[in-house]
Amino acid sequence: MPGKFVTFEGIDGAGKTTHLAWLAERLREKGAVVTVTREPGGTPFGERLRELLLDRTQQLDPATEMLLMFAARREHLSDVIVPALKEGRWVLCDRFTDATFAYQGGGSGVPWTDIAEVERLVHGELQPHITVLFDVPPGVGRRRSAQARTPDRFEQEQEAFHARVRDAYLRRAREHPARIRIIDASRSIEEVQKALEGIVLS
Ligand code: TYD
Repeated sequence: MPGKFVTFEGIDGAGKTTHLAWLAERLREKGAVVTVTREPGGTPFGERLRELLLDRTQQLDPATEMLLMFAARREHLSDVIVPALKEGRWVLCDRFTDATFAYQGGGSGVPWTDIAEVERLVHGELQPHITVLFDVPPGVGRRRSAQARTPDRFEQEQEAFHARVRDAYLRRAREHPARIRIIDASRSIEEVQKALEGIVLS
């Protein structure tokens, strides 16, 4: 596939969504054809699942949550991501499977091996070309997302939950050092953008 698949990860409030929008603009200025998308979501069906998954009043078994994330992902891959890559587009995706390892695995305790098994089933060989992990301490993420909006189901979790999510992201980065690149996102926006450009456009 000629296109490039780039995913953006980090705990809530790390700033990945802002940086994703900025990078999409930079790429378009350079003449790239870009698809911007997100998870959970990215298709009409996936966006309906997203509403259920982020609903603060909803209680879910963590394994159910993991399976629904992958159900939405499978649709997203077949309807949006794979066709866009085949057309040679850049696909910038706000969260992907590393988020499932981080939140449902690290955060909620679903066994790593169970998630890996479903990952293999849903997108065996297809992995992002690059994953940018925006890393901030949980306290920083929490303060930033509290300023931005009313918290969703995951954002309202305690700091200890977000500390586990961050640790799981860092574990993923150690397991996939060639794909996952860490940016210290507690720095200024300009510094983070410079680092992002260096990783993606070099
Ligand atoms: P987020 O990127 O934070 O959306 P927004 O910036 O619009 O609030 O994603 C929504 C939430 O979904 C986030 O708290 C993490 C959670 N999530 C999982 O728990 N597992 C997953 O596999 C994915 C993709 C997201």
